Amino acid sequence: MSGLLEVSGISVTFDGFRAINNLSFSIGAAELRAVIGPNGAGKTTFMDIVTGKTRPDEGRVLWGERSIDLLRLDEAQIARAGVGRKFQRPTVFEDQTVAENLMMALKAHRSPWRVLLWKPAAADHARVEALAVQVGLGDSLSRKSGELSHGQKQWLEIGMLLAQEPRLLLVDEPAAGMTLAEREQTTTLLVELAKTHAVVVVEHDMDFVRRLNCKVTVLHEGSVLAEGSLDHVTANQQVIEVYLGR
Ligand SMILES: Nc1ncnc2c1ncn2[C@@H]1O[C@H](COP(=O)(O)OP(=O)(O)OP(=O)(O)O)[C@@H](O)[C@H]1O
Ligand SMILES: [Mg+2]
Repeated sequence: MSGLLEVSGISVTFDGFRAINNLSFSIGAAELRAVIGPNGAGKTTFMDIVTGKTRPDEGRVLWGERSIDLLRLDEAQIARAGVGRKFQRPTVFEDQTVAENLMMALKAHRSPWRVLLWKPAAADHARVEALAVQVGLGDSLSRKSGELSHGQKQWLEIGMLLAQEPRLLLVDEPAAGMTLAEREQTTTLLVELAKTHAVVVVEHDMDFVRRLNCKVTVLHEGSVLAEGSLDHVTANQQVIEVYLGR
């Protein structure tokens, strides 16, 4: 197996409607990938399948050097195996500071018996600080999360995700609701993260996708319609018809 995640021939049907149709997808251990496509193309459902939230009717999802079958694991086991997912709505604790939120994420990452006895050590405080710096919140450690801008909350949530040391990050529409400056900083963050992680980004904002400067997978009716550079896929006649020319 070449990639970190190898999805092959998955299909899922909801009430007779085929939302994912013989979809195959592969991503390397340090790779950034944008997934685009019209509403209802199956982008979120694809992430639901990889994270174990939705079970495909057929196909395979293999993970890591030992080709672990993710379809045999539940959501918690898949998360522990190294698949992290960032949801669109930030789920940070608004009354807690940035540092407290990150520390909680670090704590949640420990095994249950350790959580009982767990007290943050100097190394944990250092890790919290490093995570904050990594997501651009190094100056905001003691701020209440509720005071952060929408974009900053999204970065905090990415930091909380990183506390769990995922190898793959699935990020669904991160740019929604962000200012242009926040969107630009988010691209920089995702590009940086993809040097050491596999990162899959679903996004409709084409300027955002262009700045990611990565391979693009176009989904349509639950299948891959085109794959390649953004210039390559946006020149594809079918892609223009189903997505860009709307
Ligand atoms: N749990 C479900 N039950 C029934 N139908 C579903 C379910 N989840 C998704 N669908 C349907 O599957 C199709 C694919 O939806 P999905 O949310 O994956 O699309 P998407 O590409 O993420 O679209 P968008 O760009 O609007 O977010 C849609 O027609 C949707 O209505
Ligand atoms: Mg979606």
